[in-house]
Amino acid sequence: MKKPQQGLYIVLFSVHGLIRGEDLELGRDSDTGGQIKYVLELAQALGKHPGVERVDLITRQVIDQKVSPEYAEPHEVLSDNVTIIRLPCGPRRYLRKEVLWSHLDSFVDNILQHFRRIGRVPDIVHAHYADAGYVGTRLVQLLGMPLIFTGHSLGRVKRQRLIEKGSKHETIETQYNIGQRIEAEEITLGNAILVITSTNQEVQEQYELYDNYQPRRMMVIPPGVALDRFYPKDASELQHAPIKEQLSRFLADPDKPMVLALSRPDERKNINALVKAYGEHKSLRDKANLVIVAGNRDDIATMDKGSREVLSEMMFLIDKYDLYSHVAYPKHHAPNDVSDLYRLAENSRGVFVNPAFTEPFGLTLIEAAACGVPIVATHDGGPKDIISTLNNGVLIDPLDSSTIADAIDNILSNKAQWEKMSKNGMTGARKYYSWDTHINQYIKAVKNVISQPRRVTDVSLSKKNRLPTVDRMLVCDIDNTLIGDKLALQDLLEIIHGTDGKIGFGVATGRNLESTQKILDQWNVPTPDLFITAVGSDIHYGHRMVQDADWQKHINYRWQPAAIKKAVKRFPGLKMQAASEQLPFKISFNVDPKKVPPLREISAYLRQHDLHVKLIYSHEAYLDVMPIRASKGLAVRYIAMKWGITPDRILVAGDSGNDEEMLKGNTLGVVVGNYSKELKKLKGRDRIYFAEQEFAHGVKEGMEHYRFLEDINKTDTGSGLSASQDQFGD
Ligand code: GLC
Ligand code: MG
Repeated sequence: MKKPQQGLYIVLFSVHGLIRGEDLELGRDSDTGGQIKYVLELAQALGKHPGVERVDLITRQVIDQKVSPEYAEPHEVLSDNVTIIRLPCGPRRYLRKEVLWSHLDSFVDNILQHFRRIGRVPDIVHAHYADAGYVGTRLVQLLGMPLIFTGHSLGRVKRQRLIEKGSKHETIETQYNIGQRIEAEEITLGNAILVITSTNQEVQEQYELYDNYQPRRMMVIPPGVALDRFYPKDASELQHAPIKEQLSRFLADPDKPMVLALSRPDERKNINALVKAYGEHKSLRDKANLVIVAGNRDDIATMDKGSREVLSEMMFLIDKYDLYSHVAYPKHHAPNDVSDLYRLAENSRGVFVNPAFTEPFGLTLIEAAACGVPIVATHDGGPKDIISTLNNGVLIDPLDSSTIADAIDNILSNKAQWEKMSKNGMTGARKYYSWDTHINQYIKAVKNVISQPRRVTDVSLSKKNRLPTVDRMLVCDIDNTLIGDKLALQDLLEIIHGTDGKIGFGVATGRNLESTQKILDQWNVPTPDLFITAVGSDIHYGHRMVQDADWQKHINYRWQPAAIKKAVKRFPGLKMQAASEQLPFKISFNVDPKKVPPLREISAYLRQHDLHVKLIYSHEAYLDVMPIRASKGLAVRYIAMKWGITPDRILVAGDSGNDEEMLKGNTLGVVVGNYSKELKKLKGRDRIYFAEQEFAHGVKEGMEHYRFLEDINKTDTGSGLSASQDQFGD
């Protein structure tokens, strides 16, 4: 099919890299589990829509013998207009998603490079899961296109669950980096134009826990099911189904109705409640077989603790109730066996059961329904929506095993009811849970969103403003970095002068333009090519001081200065700075660190009032309240895009909090020796060099470190595991 030339270009992000999930046994990861199929199938389904020209699914490249070599492929074509793009993100090997945080800024820079290579920026970006949310947020803060977010599973919910299970706060933090994840989710919610969820419960009970909870920006669109793979088959067609043979090894009478459960051996899936329910229910045992398909296993003894416990308890129960020849629990199954399992259940007039404590969505329920199997499912989560839509089964309380057994027995005993449920599921699944239905609603919402005029076209890849002779750039903070030591400054300026204009020179400061010019004059600094002033909210070029008006239009997003000022002023320990420091896109306070509450609290308060800002704290003395799309770091990247200089050819130097964002990512970061303590947490991160020497001598030392004036040495410094985030803001 020929695609229209001007169709939508949609980019999906899913950071973790193991996009097909087969290798997920590696991390056995319930957060990622739900995301896997969804993102791949969404990408493919989007590609089929006539209004969509191109879909890129961008993920992390993983080069690691422990996982399939396909995860190392930079390009994988899924169909004529859908491609998986794999880009480097930190070390090459597989990393748990919990430790990816400190590499995401450089991932963003690599994604910008990708857009530059293909010469096009997306019309929409859609981020999946918190880490991708962070990435997507950075991109839209730079490029201005709308961001869609699907959280899949949420940090606040996970933290609650872990605490209920008795985990300690500190353990949760060290193991899961949960604070970072929650903050990423908050900033994503603050930047996203639309949040797509699968169920109403997700909105009402999960997103509701967030400061940035705005139900009007949320839309429930259940995911589709690959219906081309899930439909019933006749007994004759199933005769040689490989899984059938496996089951017959266990069962005395394989033709009895099949009670089927299919899930990872995860405690939360609660499959042992079903084994118990079945074991204790005499008539159900007589009537039906139980089939438990709980992942694949070789040796239970070597599995992770959670799986080991679930599986050994299952074996105990089978023995306790003497269920031999009534229950099948195959050791292995192939992905293709799954549809046959549902079909066998349908043929035997059985039921599918999902007894999970809570089920975020319940994809398997819809697959079963599409194959004509009635369902019995937990009342907690997605199944509620599914059963009320399909009318093909019964909700149960997962904590009450006798009602589980009764519900199953009831369906098996009533023929007419079974028929009706089977039919309802089959027709309803096609009607309500096809990807076509999903995509139609999706595209409608997207078109609605992009028709709102907020795109800043000039931010795209225009090369008009490119300084043609500049091959690399030095961007320097002023106070305590460039200036502070006269001799050091002279040394540095001489070096720059000696490069004959090959190096572009920019300053990035918290000062306003006027005071910037004044201080540069006082210190005899020649006029820079670029002025980033007012903490990144204002950009001017060269001798004629041409203002970049597009930048201002761009950062205006969700900026409500009057309301913000009023809201922030109510906190103690903050005093407005002088009027000259209050600018259209910058509200600045002097801070009394003894009186001011934690930034987290201010941030939460603003979010709860639908106010979206970036809070930047410097020198334990200043608080700048900025638009979410403004910072020195974002300004540097905007410039990089405009001028066509990649971030890894830009050396940035700074000493304090308002420099943090520009130091992170692929830029060549230099922190001068006299840095202020809020930057300490950046120690050990990739491409952030902590100089021994102070002021401009530190900058010079950093230039030498990266061999900035020769062939730039981009090898990383440090391994970067610390990644706490002290800047709060959407
Ligand atoms: C400069 C600005 C001030 C700001 C501070 C930190 O000193 O003049 O307004 O708060 O930088 O960014
Ligand atoms: Mg400074």
